[in-house]
This record gives sequence, structure tokens and C-alpha cells, in this order.
Amino acid sequence: MSRILYLSAFAFLNLVLLSACSTPNGQPQKGSELAAPNQVVDFGTLYAQNCAACHGAEGRGGASIALANSVYLAIVDESAVHNVVASGVRGTSMPAFAESAGGLLTDEQINVITSGMFSRWERKGILDGTNPPSYAAKTTGNVARGEIAFKTYCASCHGSEGRGGAKGSAVTDGSFLALVSNQGLRSIVITGRPDLRAPDWRGNVPGKPMSDQEITDVVAWLASRRGQSPGQPYSASNNAQHQSEEHPEK
Ligand code: HEC
Ligand code: HEC
Repeated sequence: MSRILYLSAFAFLNLVLLSACSTPNGQPQKGSELAAPNQVVDFGTLYAQNCAACHGAEGRGGASIALANSVYLAIVDESAVHNVVASGVRGTSMPAFAESAGGLLTDEQINVITSGMFSRWERKGILDGTNPPSYAAKTTGNVARGEIAFKTYCASCHGSEGRGGAKGSAVTDGSFLALVSNQGLRSIVITGRPDLRAPDWRGNVPGKPMSDQEITDVVAWLASRRGQSPGQPYSASNNAQHQSEEHPEK
């Protein structure tokens, strides 16, 4: 903590020094780097400062789901993205950014980030002619059918029990499952990680896209592998989606 404070104090000092010499007469320039943090409305700056560490510099290649994935952006709608960014995902490392939720971004800044993701990275029509699954699960998953789906679609890369294989990491170990929501799992299964060569829902078995129900079932099976450690928000049985979806009255 003190280290963070130290670093931010240092960053602040830098700002002060910069602002002292960036214009001849000491006037802040319009649109310059001197804007107060809550005045920044440039997508690139906001994304780099708040999102890149987890989602990758250009929306790919990070530890968490690639946001610059046109399949993802075709399936999710903008309001769902806005809600996640504002409220975070409970029990995972996805923070809440809205000031109203204790974060540091204004509503306007969240709008800039959300709409910027779509205007930069969406490719209209990319799913034309396919029958894409819905972003959120529409039904309850069946664990037994999910196990069959896992063997059919996933085991070739992640190993028969999901403990990892030559072409994919472990996806059933407790430490992984404890920190990912069911919607997080569903999103990865649907959209893949093209940046890491993980296929989307159509590409696990060539010519055999997964059905919406198979996706729901495989997520139920993965969720059933969660250990029951104390304090863990996502139990093996619950079908929790993103926080915002658990509170439709929001
Ligand atoms: C500290 C790491 C971290 C940071 C910083 C972060 N995210 Fe996330 N984000 C995550 C994780 C982990 C998830 C997956 C959560 C889950 O399991 O559902 C996630 C999920 C998401 C999702 C939902 C994906 C889905 O399943 O639909 C969106 C959208 C998103 N993040 C956008 C952003 C944006 C935009 C920013 C910057 C304003 C950001 N994130 C910053 C870690 C992070
Ligand atoms: C062609 C190989 C392949 C197939 C088939 C495949 N995956 Fe993956 N998957 C990957 C790769 C590669 C990654 C990214 C790197 C990693 O985590 O191994 C990945 C990532 C994931 C992740 C994120 C892991 C993490 O640590 O963030 C999950 C969850 C996942 N896959 C689940 C599945 C499920 C469920 C299926 C079946 C419906 C499936 N995968 C099918 C190759 C594959």
C-alpha cells in the first residue's frame, strides 16, 4: 500500500513538474496531458490506464478475456459491457469503475470506454449466416450433459478431466474456477481467445459448432468442479451470472 501511495505521489509530482514547463506562459493546454484525471475523455488514455493491464494493450494478449474480439463484441450488447465496467464482477479481479461503486471513473468516461471498444473493434456482419448463442445463459445447465460436451469439444486441448493438455491449460483446478464467474466461463467458451489460439464456439470440432444448450451445459459442468472453499462467492451449484444480471432491478 505504501508503495502505491509512494508511486502515486511520484506520478503527481511529475504532473506538477510537467505542468510547470509545458507551456511558455504556464497556461494549461487544451486537451493536453494536464487534464485532471476525471476530465480525461480520450479512449486510448482511459483504456491504457484502466484496462490494459488485465485485458491486454490493444484489447488482446492479456490475462483476461480479449475485448478487441469482434466475435465477443457481436454477441454482447453495449449496455451489458457498460454494466460490467461500472459495477465490476463480484468475486473476480474485474473491478467496479463507477464512482457510485467506489471506482474512479465518471459515467462519461465509462461511456467513452464502452462505445470506443465497439467503434474500434467491432466488425459489423461478422456473425452473418451463423446462429450465434446468446450472451447470457437462457436455461439451466445440465452437469451430466455438460461432461459429455466437455469430452466432445474441449478435452482434445484441455485434457479429459480439464486438468490441462498439450494445447490448453487446466480449466478445472480450484484456483482457476474460484476466481471466474459463470458468465466469464460462458463468454470464453463462446468467443474463444483468438489472440491465444483458443477457438470460439464454432471451432472446437471443425464443422460442428456447439449448440446454445451445450454451451450452457459445459459451463454447468465446469461450475460443478468448483471446490467449496469458505468465502468463495461462486458455489458449485449456483448459476450466477454477472452481478448486474443478478439484480435486474438495478
Ligand atoms: C485487475 C484486472 C482487470 C482490470 C484492470 C479490468 N478487468 Fe475487465 N475483467 C477482468 C476479469 C478477471 C474479468 C472476468 C470476470 C468474470 O469471471 O466474469 C473481466 C471481465 C470484463 C468484461 C466482461 C467480459 C464478459 O464476460 O462479458 C468486460 C466487458 C471488461 N472486463 C471490461 C473491462 C474494461 C473496459 C476495463 C477498464 C476500464 C477492465 N475490464 C479492467 C479483469 C480486469
Ligand atoms: C484447439 C484447442 C482448444 C479447444 C478445443 C478448447 N480450448 Fe479452451 N483454450 C485453448 C487455449 C489455447 C486457451 C488459452 C491459453 C490457455 O489458457 O491454455 C484456452 C483458454 C480457455 C479458458 C480460459 C483459461 C484461462 O486460464 O483463462 C477456458 C475457461 C477454456 N479455454 C475453456 C474451454 C472449454 C470449456 C472448451 C470446450 C467447449 C475449450 N476451452 C476448447 C485451447 C482450446
